[in-house]
Amino acid sequence: MGELMRRFWVPVLLQEELPAPDSPPVRVRILGEDLVAFRDSSGRVGLLDSHCPHRLADLFFGRNEECGLRCVYHGWKFDVEGNCVDMPNEPAESSFKQKIRTTAYPTEERGGIIWAYLGPKDLLPAMPDLDYMQAPASHRFVGKVLLECNYFQSIEGDIDNSHVGFLHSLVGTTTVPGSPVTSSTQLQYQMRDKTPRGFVKETPYGILHAWRRNADLSHYHWRYNHWLMPFYSHVAGPPGSTLGIFLRPPRDDETTWAFVIRWHPERPLTDRERTALATGESVMPSLKSGTHFSKANRGNDFLIDRALQRSYSFTGISGSIYVQDMAITETMTPIVDRSREHLGTSDVAVIAVRRMLRRLARELQDGIEPHAAHHGEVYRVRCVEGLLPRDVPFSEDAPRQLLAARP
Ligand code: FES
Ligand SMILES: [Fe+2]
Repeated sequence: MGELMRRFWVPVLLQEELPAPDSPPVRVRILGEDLVAFRDSSGRVGLLDSHCPHRLADLFFGRNEECGLRCVYHGWKFDVEGNCVDMPNEPAESSFKQKIRTTAYPTEERGGIIWAYLGPKDLLPAMPDLDYMQAPASHRFVGKVLLECNYFQSIEGDIDNSHVGFLHSLVGTTTVPGSPVTSSTQLQYQMRDKTPRGFVKETPYGILHAWRRNADLSHYHWRYNHWLMPFYSHVAGPPGSTLGIFLRPPRDDETTWAFVIRWHPERPLTDRERTALATGESVMPSLKSGTHFSKANRGNDFLIDRALQRSYSFTGISGSIYVQDMAITETMTPIVDRSREHLGTSDVAVIAVRRMLRRLARELQDGIEPHAAHHGEVYRVRCVEGLLPRDVPFSEDAPRQLLAARP
């Protein structure tokens, strides 16, 4: 599966983590590899093996100066391509420097994120043309949080729709705490009908999964969501609301980076929306200052409040609804033993995504490259939710009808 992921561009850092030329280097752990990232004097981003190839000193302590990262142990210096450009502890006439290279991965900056390609050099993929990347920076928020579980558990939270009416509900009411769309009638359908019918379809980008609930006697409420190769999900919202995208690259087998994107296709985010995202009242958890670690975490049982659980909140976990998701997906154990599960009809999207990933991993072993890696344009999809007459069936065209029906 790691080989399959290495066929794609992978999000590794927020752009703001390397804010300026020659700013301090940053540790990066991604796909089980320890790397160091730096922005050189000309603004280019380098992503190198964290260990200096001389005697393996940690380049995190390096000096970022004059277009390269200099190891502080004996002064060897590397450019963003991994070339050794200075070796001051060897004789000036030595050609040893020319023989030394370190691992360096190509990087790109797009949509507020620094991306890297960690795969074979001759198979450079296309950047996924995610919808939100078209919008100016004013229209988006991009945050990052560490999850203490395998990447796939966190993805399954995005594509498992029936949990919404339970995990994120209030006791005895039909609203969602901490949601940016609490007032929406559309969201109430998810609270009222706890038995959604799920539909799935394989697509060039991944899986289209739609969820149908009873609305009134002549309509169903539909949510059309996407899961995109290899670890992205789009989550629908009601008309006029901000849209959500989650990028969930594995940090290693047992931890995951979640890049949380919230954006609006037509307008800048308001100050209130930004504040709610930054302070953990919305879909981002509240973070420990200067880190990407949630204040509510496994170590403190996600600050569960049993009195609140009896009187108000289904979980007793308040603040961001995302903390409720983290509490469940992280405590399943770092990697779930799937031989112990009992999957039902509500797990139809989980099953579809597992099948697709396993098939693509096996195909890659047989020499078949994943289509989406070289077709960034297949990522140009948007999710949508709304009401449709009961006789409109699940189809790839239904999202168009839903969008057309909006004011
Ligand atoms: S270990 Fe880096 S220069 Fe010696
Ligand atoms: Fe959730």
